[in-house]
Amino acid sequence: MVPTPITVRVPAKVNLHLSVGDARPDGYHELVTVFQALSMTDEVTVLAAEEPGIDVQGEGADSVPTDATNLAWKAVRLLAEHSGRDPEEPGVRVSINKGIPVAGGMAGGSADAAATLLALNQLWRLELGRDELSEFAAKLGSDVPFSLQGGTALGTGRGERLVPVLARHTFHWVIALDKEGLSTPAAYGELDRLRAESRPNRVGEVEPLLEALASGDPRQLALLLGNDLQAAAVSLRPGLRRTLRAGVQAGALAGIVSGSGPTCAFLCTDADAAVRVAAELSGAGVCRTVRVAHGPVPGAKLVSEEPAH
Ligand code: C5P
Repeated sequence: MVPTPITVRVPAKVNLHLSVGDARPDGYHELVTVFQALSMTDEVTVLAAEEPGIDVQGEGADSVPTDATNLAWKAVRLLAEHSGRDPEEPGVRVSINKGIPVAGGMAGGSADAAATLLALNQLWRLELGRDELSEFAAKLGSDVPFSLQGGTALGTGRGERLVPVLARHTFHWVIALDKEGLSTPAAYGELDRLRAESRPNRVGEVEPLLEALASGDPRQLALLLGNDLQAAAVSLRPGLRRTLRAGVQAGALAGIVSGSGPTCAFLCTDADAAVRVAAELSGAGVCRTVRVAHGPVPGAKLVSEEPAH
């Protein structure tokens, strides 16, 4: 009997706090970060097929690779090897429907890899627990474990060591998408370059932000959002300065570059304010398109597991 296709929904992330340490000998940077999963999602379906491969639909699909460089395909190969299947002929197709901006600093590629791990675990009946899946996730990329876990979490190491964080509120965001993506290694490289030639400001300690999350007050949280990679993203894409200003002028409490950019995320007082800010920002002509989102939301989830509405 052919197993039924498995679909997983997986969220985007924003870093509320991203403190980047110096480059390590392995080229990665030591991070202290707070992730929040947002209600912008990709859907990934895996199905048994003689002709293996990947197809991608949705926004920005044209710029997503459909070969072995796609992180979702690396997830297929990893679990194929683990389960004694031929990684060259794993007998599955992966179908990705993009709702997360591509190369936007919102962990879209990592989300697809996390979703693929969870979906294959089901399709191939591997019975891997969350901890084992998380170990495979960390092998694929620094943000992949968080895409599995979701919610709000403190990340250390490369960002892959996670502790859940209490967030006593739903926070409302406006997300501004740029015309073109930015490469994550390029943003880290630019930060190293900026730090070698001057002393760009560094974000402070994470504790006050954790307290603001626990209090649930978006005004308090807004004052504490910070991202060391923002200077690098703005240096590579100077127009982001204008986008960040326009969001605050439109009524957001604060704006930050999301991860390595170029997507900007604006924290708003509540859901109504987010809709108003989104309308005004989209009229300002400073970005390609604007979305509203809220967080935290759960991590990667089998679609069939969700309660019917
Ligand atoms: O882990 P991942 O493959 O997603 O990281 C992509 C790139 O981002 C790395 O190759 C590295 O250049 C940079 N990176 C980093 N330090 C981190 C995470 C990512 O320098 N903690």
